[in-house]
Amino acid sequence: MENRIHVDLIPEETIEEVRMRTDIVEVISEYVTLQRKGKNYWGLCPFHSEKTPSFTVTPEKQMFYCFGCNVGGNIFTFLMKKENWSFVESVKSLASRYGVSLPEKEQSPHEREENRLRRRFEEINEWAASYFHDLLLRLPEGEPGRVYFAKRGIDQETMKSFRLGYAPERWDGLLGYMQERGVRPHELAEAGLAVEKESLSKDGHQQYYDRFRNRVLFSILDRRKQPIAFGGRVLDDSVPKYLNSPENIFFNKGHKLYGMHRAHQGIREEGYALLVEGYMDVIALQNAGFPNAVASLGTALTKDQAKLLRRYTLRVVLLYDSDAAGIQAAFRGGEILHDAGVRVDVLTLAGAKDPDEYLKSYGVEEFRKALNKVLTYVEFKYRTMVREKPPRNIPEKAELVVRLAKDILKVTSPVEREGYERFLSLELGLTLEAVQREIASQEPKKPKKEGLQELSQPKQVNNVKNVYNITNAIICKDNNAPPLATVYLGVYRAELLLLRILLEDISHLPKIKAMLGDSFWKVPVHQQIFNYLDQDGVLPAHCDETVQSRLASLFLEELDISQTERLLEDCIKEILSTQAEERVEDLQARMANLEKSGDMAGAMALLKEIGERLKRGE
Ligand code: UTP
Ligand code: MN
Repeated sequence: MENRIHVDLIPEETIEEVRMRTDIVEVISEYVTLQRKGKNYWGLCPFHSEKTPSFTVTPEKQMFYCFGCNVGGNIFTFLMKKENWSFVESVKSLASRYGVSLPEKEQSPHEREENRLRRRFEEINEWAASYFHDLLLRLPEGEPGRVYFAKRGIDQETMKSFRLGYAPERWDGLLGYMQERGVRPHELAEAGLAVEKESLSKDGHQQYYDRFRNRVLFSILDRRKQPIAFGGRVLDDSVPKYLNSPENIFFNKGHKLYGMHRAHQGIREEGYALLVEGYMDVIALQNAGFPNAVASLGTALTKDQAKLLRRYTLRVVLLYDSDAAGIQAAFRGGEILHDAGVRVDVLTLAGAKDPDEYLKSYGVEEFRKALNKVLTYVEFKYRTMVREKPPRNIPEKAELVVRLAKDILKVTSPVEREGYERFLSLELGLTLEAVQREIASQEPKKPKKEGLQELSQPKQVNNVKNVYNITNAIICKDNNAPPLATVYLGVYRAELLLLRILLEDISHLPKIKAMLGDSFWKVPVHQQIFNYLDQDGVLPAHCDETVQSRLASLFLEELDISQTERLLEDCIKEILSTQAEERVEDLQARMANLEKSGDMAGAMALLKEIGERLKRGE
């Protein structure tokens, strides 16, 4: 959030370099006397008055945090708060201190020329958007456009907020309009709005004509609501249905998304992005109260678009058309997003070809209901494959598992991964172990026991902005981690996450207690922290070292708040399912004892109980 505007001024790489070169302890030491204790530094908080230190700096994470007043962040946030500087000022000050050169004010002739061209490009697009827009809104020649949009239920308000337009049925409408503003035809062609004629004029001059004719126009607006390109749709069924601005040095369609002028905020508000195929889908969804809807620009989703989305959210719901092409696009798009580190869910709408049509036919309420039934990417893929070719025998089931293995292996959260494995085992009637072994066998050969090493050999995780998945961050550098059996790895992580969530928002406590009771924690220090929270909702100013260092490591992790509900549920499920396994193991042990002691009737009764439990899925 902090660097929304400034990124335009200082490139992100530079900001990152400043952050990396900065020694947070050195800088903060100028304001606070810090004392080293283990990996962290402690001191009296500069943001509230206190007598005993509750302010910590963790160099490893380049973060600070105060347990007393809950203020925390990175070095930029620190300076912003302490010095009352803007983000840019903080970056600049650190840059000069640590010798990072910021982009020069002095421009090379080449840069100056490029900037001039960019401004010209923006100006031309701005004029063009006004030209098309005015035609649509009020000029007589815009009537066909108005008729078209009216038919599709688009009102004036929408026309304005999306800067929709209409290009008249003329070869030189825009050319003439631009000429009046001093724009030369070749400039218009460079901006993608005019096209060179094949033949020269009689006196040997290059001639041009308008690219967009008799089409309704969708302005592609950037975050500042500046038009950077256009998509033009025919008014009937002729082809090509859409004509888009060609690419140039200032516009690369693989880098942009339609609807972003609203969605850059909408995605943050909603906590996820809705990715659709068509311009009209974006408009319909944003109008229906989904400001987080975006679409790619007439091409398959690119890696750059995935990275762009990743800057705003960790979760994308794919909502592609329900035809075969849409399904293929969802398969591929899901993979690209996943590789960019985004969690992907897929929504399929039955009974309509696309979201726009769905909203028209069934309304927002139905859409919301459908949205509650999104499938995870893996589940979507599974269901689609089964629908296309239901497995008829064991080898075909195995094949299905193998085909999904690639996707499941990419899942970094063990909780989630096991969830998929369980799902497959239930769906296909195979044992969990068999599914797990099949999937593991697809893993590219790597040194063994990776999961456990992570606990003892902390991985440096830099720059983790939001954390959904458990593996990524929360516990990596934890020297207090008890030596746990593999089987508890998932539970251990689930516990850490639950605590992290509780520290963020204590109001989740009743739910956790209702589901799990109050003494379920496997790790004693977790139980201890939980007891503090449970008893009076706060942490004592002084608690023992183990508790403190665990707290520090928990606090210093950022949590993706938009994912809290889901995380909470995942963690509770993980803990419950382990408890169920343990109960069954316990019953089995008792049964073995009864058998040994000759109590066959008792053993049979227990056996029955085990069977029932398994059947109930406990
Ligand atoms: P659709 O054919 O689904 O169009 O293409 P649509 O946006 O839903 O339009 P309506 O509702 O039928 O009017 C989806 C997207 O693919 C790109 C456009 O970006 C379009 O929004 N596309 C489609 C093209 O670029 N060129 C084409 O010829 C067709
Ligand atoms: Mn469509």
